[in-house]
Amino acid sequence: MYERIRETAEWLRERRPNAPQTAIVLGTGLGQLAERIEKLVCIPYADIPNFPVSTVEGHAGQLIFGRLGGKDVMAMEGRFHYYEGYMMQQVTFPVRVMHELGIRTLFVSNAAGGMNPAFSIGDLMVITDHINFMPENPLHGPNVPPGPRFPDMSEAYSRDLIARADEIAARNGIKVQHGVYLATQGPTFETPAEYRMFASWGADAVGMSTVPEVIVANHCGMRCFGMSIITDLGGFGEPVKVTHEEVQRAASAVQPLMATIMEELVKSED
Ligand code: HPA
Repeated sequence: MYERIRETAEWLRERRPNAPQTAIVLGTGLGQLAERIEKLVCIPYADIPNFPVSTVEGHAGQLIFGRLGGKDVMAMEGRFHYYEGYMMQQVTFPVRVMHELGIRTLFVSNAAGGMNPAFSIGDLMVITDHINFMPENPLHGPNVPPGPRFPDMSEAYSRDLIARADEIAARNGIKVQHGVYLATQGPTFETPAEYRMFASWGADAVGMSTVPEVIVANHCGMRCFGMSIITDLGGFGEPVKVTHEEVQRAASAVQPLMATIMEELVKSED
């Protein structure tokens, strides 16, 4: 595995125009942020050696090297989800490659269902912690050096970045919630009983991504910051139907606000 990471990183190093220390994984509804990135080089995933091959049509995805908020950044436009059938090592392979390329801070975004009664559709949630409820841990198997066999996860999401995000949100008059993100394998949305169970476990939002990438990023010693767009609500009141279209609509309405917070955060990196 380490050889493949090195090989891919080497291939990208020969093609990248800059040497960013910050990476962004753009999830559902973060197209806006992609538009704000001054793109210098875009490489389709299909062209990158050892990158997972997309199984889903219209889910192509590309790696972007560019600039955001005056800083060099690398961004994944589109991620690999476990529910698509990828192995956890494939889902998190790009994060390993980022680390090999010198990335020190990882920003992640997603759409999630809210279970905290104080949340509304369209809220932005700063992820303060997570619960890995996926069927596998991405570190399963031989340890990939130099990360430790048993990584500490007491600050999976950087408290410093959370504090800076709060300050940026306040300065821009953007309301943000804080909460714990729980990841399921998907692709089903939750039954009312599942929403209630997850809420009773201490989760505020539920989704199908992010946690594998953040585990591997922590294993590599990166700092992480994540935000969710609350696109639907479950676990309290009347059970409501959730559709992918609804999730996308709710996400697109608030994405400029999330993009502002992310851009300002990147700008404040040193
Ligand atoms: N559950 C799981 N994943 C999601 C949801 C949800 O309610 N909303 C958006 N992604």
